[in-house]
Amino acid sequence: MARMVRHDATGPHRIDPQEKPVFICACGLSKNLPYCDGSHSRCKDEQAGTLYIFDAARETVVDQKPDSPPNAPRVAD
Ligand code: FES
Repeated sequence: MARMVRHDATGPHRIDPQEKPVFICACGLSKNLPYCDGSHSRCKDEQAGTLYIFDAARETVVDQKPDSPPNAPRVAD
């Protein structure tokens, strides 16, 4: 079974007030959900209008460039 969930956020949700800040993952790439583990740094080079698909290991498997035909996703390197 596979599931594709759209996440547009490129950083965590901050929860206040706490003794210390708590950051909840909003990008969907954390391997320590629901908490941010810093994996959102991989989003920094993502381009608007491009679809990125990650596998269960949070590796990019497909990115769809805006100028690509809709039925021709490019498998990431
Ligand atoms: S927001 Fe997802 S890992 Fe930080």
